[in-house]
Amino acid sequence: MPAYTPLTDEHLAFLRSCLSPDRVSTSAADRDLHARDQSFHAVRPPDVIVWPETTEEVSNVLRYANRQRIPVTPWGAGSSLEGNPIAVNGGIMLDFARMNRIVSVRAEDFQVDVQPGITRIELNKALARYGLFFTPEPGADATIGGMIANNAAGVKTIKYGATKDNVLRLEVVQASGAIIRVGTRARKDSSGYDLLHLFVGSEGTLGVITEATLKLAPIPADFSAVLAAFESVEQAIQSVVDIVGAGLEPSALEFVDKETVEALNRDKSMSFVVAPTVIMEFIGASDTEGLQMALEICKENGATNFAAAVGREERNKLWEVRHHTYESLVRLHPGFAQKIMDVAVPISRYPEIVLFADEVLAQHNLLGYKFGHAGDGNLHINIIHDPTDPEQLDRVERANGIIVERAIALEGTATGEHGVGIGKRRFIIQQHGPALDVMRQIKGLLDPNCILNPGKIFLDADDMTDVSSDRA
Ligand code: MLT
Ligand code: ZN
Repeated sequence: MPAYTPLTDEHLAFLRSCLSPDRVSTSAADRDLHARDQSFHAVRPPDVIVWPETTEEVSNVLRYANRQRIPVTPWGAGSSLEGNPIAVNGGIMLDFARMNRIVSVRAEDFQVDVQPGITRIELNKALARYGLFFTPEPGADATIGGMIANNAAGVKTIKYGATKDNVLRLEVVQASGAIIRVGTRARKDSSGYDLLHLFVGSEGTLGVITEATLKLAPIPADFSAVLAAFESVEQAIQSVVDIVGAGLEPSALEFVDKETVEALNRDKSMSFVVAPTVIMEFIGASDTEGLQMALEICKENGATNFAAAVGREERNKLWEVRHHTYESLVRLHPGFAQKIMDVAVPISRYPEIVLFADEVLAQHNLLGYKFGHAGDGNLHINIIHDPTDPEQLDRVERANGIIVERAIALEGTATGEHGVGIGKRRFIIQQHGPALDVMRQIKGLLDPNCILNPGKIFLDADDMTDVSSDRA
């Protein structure tokens, strides 16, 4: 691990003069509020939290921290699921709550410029009067900065893509304090290296995002959402593969296992048929044909029941219930923790990974709720366990490892949308092989002192200092 400088009174005095005293806090309450995300990873408070209001302030803090060798971790809403913003080495936390403005809406270009601290729901509320929305939809009300840093995705990715497909331009502050703009407002760009997408998904380890130009889409006038219930998991997931294979274009195509349906019924007083279920949504009157074909495919695969969420209110309720799966499981298992898994595989291998996961959970005697963005080949398994029981934790980690390794062997990924953070670092060598060295070199080049969100993505922080000393 690189040698970091412990925070001193002198550092705090600098931060207070650089921002203002009321935007610098070392209080136990503030440190505690910034010590954990929604994952099960160990709690670690930063030493100090600062609330910048301008890009220049971010730049001044970074320039200083870089010279002083103090770690800096950006913070959005704390809704991530892999420990991505936990300040594992302490240091300075940059909380973007005060950089949460919409800078400009350019409805004629279907674009908006925003500061990173605005949340997805806040942004979409403001955009509604233009008839537009920012399409990526992870369950959480994450900040836009967090979504970009993590390349968040969710139920709408099958139609609109992940966050990376919906960001056009970024303003980024580098570890040195230099401010750069990457990308363009044009919809196409083939000028040089694609630095924009280097920063998207880099989890705050290569630079700090201070402004973003986002691509928007028109809010659809109408939707048709249908739940298809099946007798077996095999039938449900085969229907997903066949719907994608038929070239249909749903705006959502989700798989929810029987146990998860039952949990949502209990927690949210719903009355969904308790069975392996596929939730599909099609947009607009023009796609009623698509929906009909999808329903035919489900029937052919043995669907036993269809329920339609007709009308905007019912459909919104359906997605609200689905988005809060994690919270429902928290309430149904008080005192227990959830290991949240997030593998993704090519769609043709989706049945294989779902059935394999079932076997592994049974072999390890674990209760796991399976659901996910099946149309993208993305499977979540929330494994319930007692976090104080080391034997159970060991079983959870073993089962997790076996499933993730199988997803990678199927030419998939250890994480479809939650990021590497802390929890997926141990799989990154297996997934990327020699390409990981290139990632290390990029990290060494952009952040030679390893001050930006250290302890994430790479398992061994020492490797990164080696890269920078090689270059020197
Ligand atoms: C979801 O799709 O609900 C989240 O990405 C994952 C989760 O809470 O397990
Ligand atoms: Zn998800």
